[in-house]
Amino acid sequence: MEDYTTLDFDIVPVKVSRLSEVDFSNLAFGKVFSDHMFVMDHVDGAWQKGEISAFGPMTFSPAMMSLHYGQAIFEGMKAFRQEDGSVSLFRPGSNIKRLNFSARRMSMPSVPEDVFLQALVEMVKLDKDWVPDTPNSALYIRPFMFATESHVGVRPSMTYRFCIFTCPVGAYYTQPVKVKVEQHFTRAALGGTGAAKAAGNYAGSLYPTELAKSEGYDQILWTDAQTHERVEECGTMNVAFVIDGVMVVPKTSDTVLSGVTRASAIHLMRHAGVEVEEREVTVTELAEAAKEGRLTEAFGLGTAATISPICTLGLPSGDWDLPNQENWVVGPQVKKWLDGVRYGTGEDPFGWNIPL
Ligand code: COI
Repeated sequence: MEDYTTLDFDIVPVKVSRLSEVDFSNLAFGKVFSDHMFVMDHVDGAWQKGEISAFGPMTFSPAMMSLHYGQAIFEGMKAFRQEDGSVSLFRPGSNIKRLNFSARRMSMPSVPEDVFLQALVEMVKLDKDWVPDTPNSALYIRPFMFATESHVGVRPSMTYRFCIFTCPVGAYYTQPVKVKVEQHFTRAALGGTGAAKAAGNYAGSLYPTELAKSEGYDQILWTDAQTHERVEECGTMNVAFVIDGVMVVPKTSDTVLSGVTRASAIHLMRHAGVEVEEREVTVTELAEAAKEGRLTEAFGLGTAATISPICTLGLPSGDWDLPNQENWVVGPQVKKWLDGVRYGTGEDPFGWNIPL
C-alpha cells in the first residue's frame, strides 16, 4: 500500500471486489460500474476532505437544488490498457480544465486540479483490474458535480458534491450512425451553455433525438440556432467531414463543446503534415459536396464514441448515403494514430498518456 497521507482524501478499499461478476467479453456501454467511487463535498465555501470508497447509492433531500434548477455538470474521459499490460490515463488535464470551465459557466465552485488528478490516479490504480484489454475497450471515467443544498428558490446552491466513478466499456456505437440534419430544434444558442458539459444540454437534446429516432435516424447533426445552416456537432460527439479529400471540422464556439478527441485528432493529423480545416461548414455546402461526389467521409469524434463513422446524412433534400467505408482514408487514419497513442501501440509525440 502506498503512503496516502499527503492526499486530501481518504481511501477505504472494498473488502470484496465485484470484478468476478462481470462478463468482460460482452460489455454494454455504461451498465457496469467498478468497485470504487470518489466523493468530495463543498461546504461553507470550501472543499472538504474527500473519500474513495465502495461505489453505491447516495441519499438526498427531495429539495436538493440540482434536481430543480439543474446545476449539474460532468466529464467523460478514459484509461486504456497498454500493449505491455500497464494502464494509462489519456489527457486527464484537458478534462480537468474543461470541468472547471463548465463549473464557472454554471456558477459552481472549481475543483482543485491537483486533488482532481490525484483522485483520478488513485481511483484507477485501485480499480486497475477493471480496465479491459479487448479491442476498442477502455475504462470510461465519469467525473461530475451537482448542487446539493436543500432550498426552494432560484440562486446558486451553497453546497456541492464532486464525484468520480468508472465503468469498463466497449464501443459506444457498435454500428455506423445515421444522422438527421436538424433544422427546427436547437441544442445551443450564442451566449448560452452549449460549450459547457452541463447535464441540461443533454436533457434538451433528448426529445428532438427521440423524434429523429422515430424517423429512422440514430442521432442528430445540430445546426446553429439563428439560421440552422451552420453545422455544429453531432449527438454526443463533435463531427468531421472529408470534402475534396481534406478533413474539415466545424470550428468551436460558445455553442459547441470543445472535445478532447476532436482536438487530439486535429493535432495528430497536423503533426503528420496532413491538412485539416477548422472552419464554418454549412448544410448547403454538405448537400452540394454530396451531390457532386466531393463529400467522401463523415465521422463523429468523442471520448465515449471515439471515431464513429456516419453512414447516412438526413439532408433537407433527403437521405444521402456516404460512399462505402472500405474506401475511406482519413477517418481510419485518425483512428489509427489516436488508438496508437491511447493503447500504447504507437508514438505518443506530445506526452498525452499519464502512466499509472
Ligand atoms: C463522452 O464522449 O464522454 C460523452 O460525454 C458522451 C456521453 C454523453 C456518453
